[in-house]
Amino acid sequence: MISPSLLAANFANLEEEMKWFNQSSADWLHIDVMDGVFVPNISFGFPVLKHVARICKKPLDVHLMIVQPEKFVNEVKDLGAYLMNVHYEACPHLHRVVGQIHEAGMKAGVTLNPATPVSVLEDIAADVDLVLLMSVNPGFGGQKFITHTLEKVRELRQLLDRTGSKALIEVDGGVNLETGRQLKEAGVDVLVAGNYIFRAPDPAKACEALSAL
Ligand code: DX5
Ligand code: ZN
Repeated sequence: MISPSLLAANFANLEEEMKWFNQSSADWLHIDVMDGVFVPNISFGFPVLKHVARICKKPLDVHLMIVQPEKFVNEVKDLGAYLMNVHYEACPHLHRVVGQIHEAGMKAGVTLNPATPVSVLEDIAADVDLVLLMSVNPGFGGQKFITHTLEKVRELRQLLDRTGSKALIEVDGGVNLETGRQLKEAGVDVLVAGNYIFRAPDPAKACEALSAL
């Protein structure tokens, strides 16, 4: 599956962007919320996302790069989000947060930064619907793919099998046709791509090319 990242879209014309997007082969829309604390950048917040949610026809895959994401479970739910991703590094009480996301009727995703080993998921894997591995340090689009992610994907697949988890594996950062192909071979289920899709001369075609991998 492909989840194009809104972060690379033309913010001055989101309505136009959603026109091609809604007709494209994209499966989800990836939404990067940043707070300037957990990551060194600020993107967009709920007042903007409310309008995006209204014009987007595909399920929303919300990636919260913020401290205390549990404070915003209701806001994400009110967007009608399909999936709420929280960072492992931002949640000392991760098991509780995953429960809150499920109680709100959403799928729960847990995200790991590049320096966080997949082994930290051992005791939570069976409770989550998706694991998002960051293949760049979060905060900015257009960064170079960290190759070590490929090993983490294979390791995560083993951990999920061993713990009986049905969680999907998603990877975010520096995804293009080449890294996308390597990731698919390593066993990834969902590819996030920002610049590769939204900054392409023909975004729908770029999305199609990733979908066809
Ligand atoms: C990075 C974000 C990514 C970003 C990916 O902090 O989480 O979703 O938009 O952008 P690309 O695909 O351009 O690396
Ligand atoms: Zn993201």
